[in-house]
Amino acid sequence: MSGFLALVSAAIIALTQTASSAPTGSSNTTSTKLCVQLQIPVPVVADQYHYDQPQVDSNIDAIDWTVNVTTWDMADWNARQRGTVHVNQIFNISAQLCVPSKNTSKADVLHIATAGQGFDRRYYDVEIQPEEYSYVDAAIGKGYSVLAYDRIGTGGSEKPDAYDIVQIPTDIEVLAGLTKIARSGDLISSSQVSAATTGGEPAIQDYQATKVVHVGHAYGSYITSIMFANPTYAILSDGALMTGLYFNFAMENNSLTVLNYNHAFPKENDPVRFAEWGSGYFVLDNKQTLQKLFFQKATLDPALLDYTEAIKQPESVGTYSSEGNSTLTPATDFTGPIMFFTGEFDNYVCNGDCNGVFDEHFTNYLYPNATALAHYLQPGAGHATGLSTNASAGYEVMLQYLDSQGL
Ligand SMILES: *[C@@H]1O[C@H](CO)[C@@H](O)[C@H](O)[C@H]1NC(C)=O
Ligand SMILES: *[C@@H]1O[C@H](CO)[C@@H](O)[C@H](O)[C@H]1NC(C)=O
Ligand SMILES: *[C@@H]1O[C@H](CO)[C@@H](O)[C@H](O)[C@H]1NC(C)=O
Ligand SMILES: *[C@@H]1O[C@H](CO)[C@@H](O)[C@H](O)[C@H]1NC(C)=O
Ligand SMILES: *[C@@H]1O[C@H](CO)[C@@H](O)[C@H](O)[C@H]1NC(C)=O
Ligand SMILES: *[C@@H]1O[C@H](CO)[C@@H](O)[C@H](O)[C@H]1NC(C)=O
Ligand SMILES: *[C@@H]1O[C@H](CO)[C@@H](O)[C@H](O)[C@H]1NC(C)=O
Ligand SMILES: *[C@@H]1O[C@H](CO)[C@@H](O)[C@H](O)[C@H]1NC(C)=O
Repeated sequence: MSGFLALVSAAIIALTQTASSAPTGSSNTTSTKLCVQLQIPVPVVADQYHYDQPQVDSNIDAIDWTVNVTTWDMADWNARQRGTVHVNQIFNISAQLCVPSKNTSKADVLHIATAGQGFDRRYYDVEIQPEEYSYVDAAIGKGYSVLAYDRIGTGGSEKPDAYDIVQIPTDIEVLAGLTKIARSGDLISSSQVSAATTGGEPAIQDYQATKVVHVGHAYGSYITSIMFANPTYAILSDGALMTGLYFNFAMENNSLTVLNYNHAFPKENDPVRFAEWGSGYFVLDNKQTLQKLFFQKATLDPALLDYTEAIKQPESVGTYSSEGNSTLTPATDFTGPIMFFTGEFDNYVCNGDCNGVFDEHFTNYLYPNATALAHYLQPGAGHATGLSTNASAGYEVMLQYLDSQGL
C-alpha cells in the first residue's frame, strides 16, 4: 500500500467536490475538482551571498531597512556582499494539487502556479466568488490540472532564515525541484498528504504530468523567467503564462519603489497570524498599501481588498538583497509558447499605464526560441489581475491561448 493510500484510509476524508465554472457549450469539460493538500520535500542546492543590511526585528526596523537600502550610496546590493552561502537542504513545501474529477484530454497538462510577493498559493484559488476569481477553478473547468504551492517563507511552507536562505536562487530551485517531481510522477508518493479533500483517489494517487505549463504572478513570473534561462530547467517547461511581468518602456519612470511599500514586522502587524515569521521577514502593513500596489479603483471590489488583507503574506529581505545578483538572460532553450498578461493600469509594472509601452525587442531577445510569444492587457485592471473584477474573462484569454498553441 502506498504512503498516500495508507494516509487516505487512515484519515477521515471529507468529500468536497467543488463546483467550478464549466464553460457553456462544451461537453468535453469537467465540472468538479479533486484536490489534495501536500507537504512536498524539495531538495535545494544553491549558491547565494550574505549581505550587509540592517536586521529587521520590529516595525521601526522594517522602515529603517527600507530607508537604508534605498539610500543612494547603498543601493547597489552586490557591493553589500559579505561572503558566500552554500545552501544544500531539503525544504518542506506546502502545495495543493487539483485534478479534474473526470479524466480529460488535458488532465496530464499540469499548471504549476507561483504567486508573487505578498501572496501564497491562495492567490490562485480565491475563496470569495471562486467562479469569478479562482484560477484553479478556471483551469480545472478546461480540463487541466493545477499545482499551486506556497513559495518558501510563505503560507504552510518552511520559513527558514530570511537573510541568507530565502533568496532568489533558492526560490528558483524550489520551483525547478517541484517541476521535476511532478514530471516523474512522484508528487503524491514523495509527499505527506496533510489533508485530502477528494473523492477520487485513483485519479490522483499516481498523478503524473506529461506536460507542464508554468504560471506566475509578478515575482513568481520573474523567478520563472530566470529559471528558464537555465538550459536544464527550460526543457522542463512546455509553456508559460506570465502575469504581472511585462517588459516595457514605462518601467524606467516607475514612481513606486520599495519606499512606498510600508512594510511592517509580521509579528507586530498580527502576532497570532504571523507567529511563525521571525527576524528578516516583513509584510505590507495595511489595506491602503495593498490598494496602492495591487489595485485600480475601477476594477476593485472592496470585498477582494479585504480578502487580500486577510491572506497577505510576509516577504523576506533576502529576496530583495539577491535582486542585484540576478539578471534576466536569454532563455535559448525554452521552446514553448509564452504569454505576458498584465493589468492595463498596473502601477507597479508600468507606472500605471501599460498601453503602448510593451518592449517587444527585449522580450524577443529573452525568448529567441519560443514557438509563440503573446502579450495582453487586461482592461482596467491593476497589478493583481487575479483579484480584480472581470478576472475570469482574463483567465479565459490565457487558457484559450494555451489551447490555440496545442496545450
Ligand atoms: C475532448 O477535446 C479534445 C480536444 O481538446 C478532443 O481531442 C477529444 O476528442 C474530446 N473528447 C471528447 C470525449 O469529446
Ligand atoms: C545601512 O545599513 C548598513 C548595514 O547595516 C550600515 O552599515 C549603514 O550605516 C546604514 N546606512 C544608513 C544611512 O543607515
Ligand atoms: C518536513 O516534513 C516532514 C514530514 O512531515 C517532517 O518529518 C519534518 O520534520 C519536516 N521538516 C521541517 C524542517 O519542518
Ligand atoms: C485520460 O484520457 C486520455 C485521453 O483523453 C488518455 O490518453 C489517458 O490514458 C486517460 N487516462 C486515464 C488514467 O484514464
Ligand atoms: C520617462 O520620463 C521622461 C522624463 O519625464 C520622459 O521623457 C519619457 O518619455 C518617459 N518615458 C516613458 C516611456 O514614458
Ligand atoms: C553576483 O555576485 C558575484 C560575486 O560578487 C559576481 O561575480 C557576479 O557577477 C554577480 N552576478 C550578477 C548578475 O550581478
Ligand atoms: C535556439 O535553439 C537552438 C538549439 O538549441 C540553438 O542552437 C540556438 O542558438 C537558439 N537560438 C537562439 C537565437 O539562441
Ligand atoms: C473583461 O475581460 C475581457 C478579457 O480580457 C475583455 O474582453 C472585456 O472587455 C473585459 N470587460 C470589461 C468590462 O472590461
